[in-house]
Amino acid sequence: AITRHYKFNIRLQNMTRLCHTKSMLTVNGRFPGPRIIAREGDRLLIKVVNHVSNNVSIHWHGIRQLQTGWADGPGYITQCPIQTGQTYVYNYTIVGQRGTFFWHAHITWLRATLYGPLIVLPKHNVSYPFEKPYKEVPIIFGEWWNANPEAVITQALQTGGSPNVSDAYTINGFPGPLYNCSANETFKLRVKAGKTYMLRLINAALNDELFFSIANHTFTVVEADAIYVKPFETDVVLITPGQTTNVLLKTKPNSPNATFLMAARPYFTGRGTFDNSTVAGILEYKKPSISSSSNGSINGLPLPTLPPINATSFVANFSSKFRSLANAQFPANVPQTVQKQFFFTVGLGTSPCLKNQTCQGPNNSTKFAASINNVSFALPTTALLQAHFFGQANGVYTTDFPSTPLMPFNYTGTPPNNTMVANGTKVVVLPFNTTVEVVLQDTSILGAESHPLHLHGYNFFVVGQGFGNFDPNKDPAKFNLVDPAERNTIGVPSGGWVTFRFRADNPGVWFMHCHFEVHLSWGLKMAWVVMDGKLPNQKLLPPPSDLPKC
Ligand code: C2O
Repeated sequence: AITRHYKFNIRLQNMTRLCHTKSMLTVNGRFPGPRIIAREGDRLLIKVVNHVSNNVSIHWHGIRQLQTGWADGPGYITQCPIQTGQTYVYNYTIVGQRGTFFWHAHITWLRATLYGPLIVLPKHNVSYPFEKPYKEVPIIFGEWWNANPEAVITQALQTGGSPNVSDAYTINGFPGPLYNCSANETFKLRVKAGKTYMLRLINAALNDELFFSIANHTFTVVEADAIYVKPFETDVVLITPGQTTNVLLKTKPNSPNATFLMAARPYFTGRGTFDNSTVAGILEYKKPSISSSSNGSINGLPLPTLPPINATSFVANFSSKFRSLANAQFPANVPQTVQKQFFFTVGLGTSPCLKNQTCQGPNNSTKFAASINNVSFALPTTALLQAHFFGQANGVYTTDFPSTPLMPFNYTGTPPNNTMVANGTKVVVLPFNTTVEVVLQDTSILGAESHPLHLHGYNFFVVGQGFGNFDPNKDPAKFNLVDPAERNTIGVPSGGWVTFRFRADNPGVWFMHCHFEVHLSWGLKMAWVVMDGKLPNQKLLPPPSDLPKC
């Protein structure tokens, strides 16, 4: 294991997409940002220097940060933001993890342009539990806004309505030939015939789950959220924001001299506007006969077949295919019993609109809000982790986050009249090593919608999922406690529920939230405070001296 040093200069850079040039926030002038590559066991020192007027913080999505919560990154949760002119060194060791991760800004909507892959290779001389790929290719999905995404969400929060949607989806920063003025900005993957490629798929889009496919090719899924899975074949991958999926792509034998299209477009069941466009890219065998050529023309090439926009049963079926290896080398340590159970409703609701404001929410006197158990989480003005570590919770957060909804109702039926949410900075406190079970129940208050829930600091085991209301008398009997998928982000099925378990063995303050940035802005988030254990390696380390102040 070695120490690897990176420097992230946050600065403005002109970028052009869709014939629109804008000055936007970048890391080191690049979009998407630089790749971080490390090995399991390595220590990373990433020096982030803020040269812009925005407050910044960076999150290393999926890295557990054992004892090093100070390096996790969500603004006002584990750290105060890095202010203009300030520097902060994220200092952490990658313990017991390898696979595809990503990094992204974790404050307001800066993630729109500040993101990039974080690849952790196995230790030297350790191989993958599947055929060694000929090459590995990160494929990171994102969104492009002609407008400034900060202005988009600021305006939406003021009016109470839905924010405008992006102008394009992107693959490695490129919108591709199906958008106006974009043929020259197409991601192209050049491959050799008869080889196995590993695509490291990452969904860094702000607000959209995406279907992805390559025409005339099949994938073998081998890893999800940086955990190996029992391999399975599929033509289409569904990937939510915050998820990563590694797939093997076997290229056709005997050089077919051909070019194929790859494409991604959204899965969406909610209300309101969304971007129903398609990003396409090119898979080009070397020495192709039909060339996608200099002008980027894709004449005559068929798009891959993608499921319809609201293909909820496809999504549920796809999600249920993920299984842990659960073998001697990669055991699935699923808690077989649980000490604490939580039932969380997740979804959109409304909150009172301030007097004299024009509110464009669902009823004209209300604003959009999103909540867990009717609590719309309000960020504090100092970081929760500091308040916790220094024993200064008073006035920063309260420990009364409800473990069940305040008012039970038919979550997937007709909602009751009063579904207003309350603002609060509430947390759940867990003693070290508590075994926890969480049921996440979608609600139909403003229409059923899938929510990609992400937990910081942990992986969890997805022991069950279903449609309708979770039934505590019947559903637990069907839980998979043998080889459930282990992940850090899971889609709560639209009009359904999902249950996961984890062991609270990482002390600190850990954010849990919907990875749709707009739902995060509306309050679909909460935090777990996990107390120290007795042994030295069960305690949160003290903060680094350069930790930013609020
Ligand atoms: Cu990838 Cu809290 O986020």
